[in-house]
Amino acid sequence: MLIHKMKRVNGVITVPGDKSISHRAVMLGALADGTTSIRGFLRGADCLSTIDCFRKMGIRIDEDGNGSVTVHGRGLNGLSAPQDTLYTGNSGTTTRLLCGILAGQPFDSSVTGDASICKRPMGRVTRPLSLMGARIENEYCPLLIHGTKLHGIDYSMEVASAQVKTALILAALYADGETVIRETEKSRDHTELMLKAMGADIETCGLTVRVRRTNALRPQDITVPGDISSAAFFMVLGSIMPESEITIKNVGINPTRTGIIDVMRQMGADIRISGERTEGGEPVADIRAASSRLRGVEIGGEIIPRLIDELPVIAAAAVFAEGRTVIRDARELKVKETNRIRAVAEEFTKAGADITETEDGMIINGGKPIHGADFAVYGDHRMAMSLAILSQLAEGASSIDDASCVDVSYPGFFEDFYGLEN
Ligand code: S3P
Repeated sequence: MLIHKMKRVNGVITVPGDKSISHRAVMLGALADGTTSIRGFLRGADCLSTIDCFRKMGIRIDEDGNGSVTVHGRGLNGLSAPQDTLYTGNSGTTTRLLCGILAGQPFDSSVTGDASICKRPMGRVTRPLSLMGARIENEYCPLLIHGTKLHGIDYSMEVASAQVKTALILAALYADGETVIRETEKSRDHTELMLKAMGADIETCGLTVRVRRTNALRPQDITVPGDISSAAFFMVLGSIMPESEITIKNVGINPTRTGIIDVMRQMGADIRISGERTEGGEPVADIRAASSRLRGVEIGGEIIPRLIDELPVIAAAAVFAEGRTVIRDARELKVKETNRIRAVAEEFTKAGADITETEDGMIINGGKPIHGADFAVYGDHRMAMSLAILSQLAEGASSIDDASCVDVSYPGFFEDFYGLEN
């Protein structure tokens, strides 16, 4: 697809619902006793994979096609054995969180996904689950899960990963005794918040989460806020484009997710937050980003899990920022939908950007002119959207080899994007 270049962008948009919260709402709704109503559900391919998997386990899920979803939960012990392999598509969250739920079921199951999922490490979930007694074959998909009795453990996490943490929390709902999970850095805590609201026996203290076996989860009405990881593309777009201003309404600003705001402000971006409120236990606000002169920054340490998915678009911002940006401690980028360190470095280099791949991140010397190119997106939704933004300020024409992959997290991205031109 040829990327159209806009001169200026202005306007107000609403981004689709948060991907992490949408997955959890369906999963926990399925395990609750009764009906969970979800509003603002992300109808992206990843979250639809989650719905599909739970339907295969006998859960009735009604969808109106507009983000209203009703999950007819059957309780923690109400899932039925799936007749087929559970197919998770491109979704790491579905795959890893399912492992936690399936490990303690009284039936066997198998899980697999697309070519990208089959290359992503699942040992980070299956190994700690096996310490709880789980019997899971393979460290890559397809995974064969022999449901069994589980027991609590005290586990110090090896990577800062909300997917691993959540898989263990979900398994702990079925395990005898107490499970203690110790994080190295604080990762997104949507599972903990939602489970507390549903009455689970879960406590968080700093980097430690304690969970005890739970007999019943209360169904909820869940309003999913806009996804800050999707809003990030517009925060960067509004900041780099001349004479521009974009307001993104109704965005989730859970502090475990707001690293993008901190970093953009540090880069000198004019980002304003207004109308802060709490909806369904999650903080929400409107975010306004306006044209700014950006400067390079150093990004590393505890902030990384708070902006891990936003690093490709932050790298695009860094290309237009004066001076050097160094991203470190971001090894996790190598095991996302694609190796995002390599993909960003290779594609941005095609545009003439001064970017060097490092062992755990990248170094970008920004503020130099770039030119258009024919970009590869590696089937990765966030690469496609980041390259569409990079192309805006490149001299000459650019294209991306796959625009449809944005459907994974942001169906309608290009309509919203071009709708801002003026
Ligand atoms: C997610 C956690 C993060 C993130 C992913 C969604 C989640 O992955 O990159 O897009 O919903 O828990 P990791 O847990 O692998 O860091």
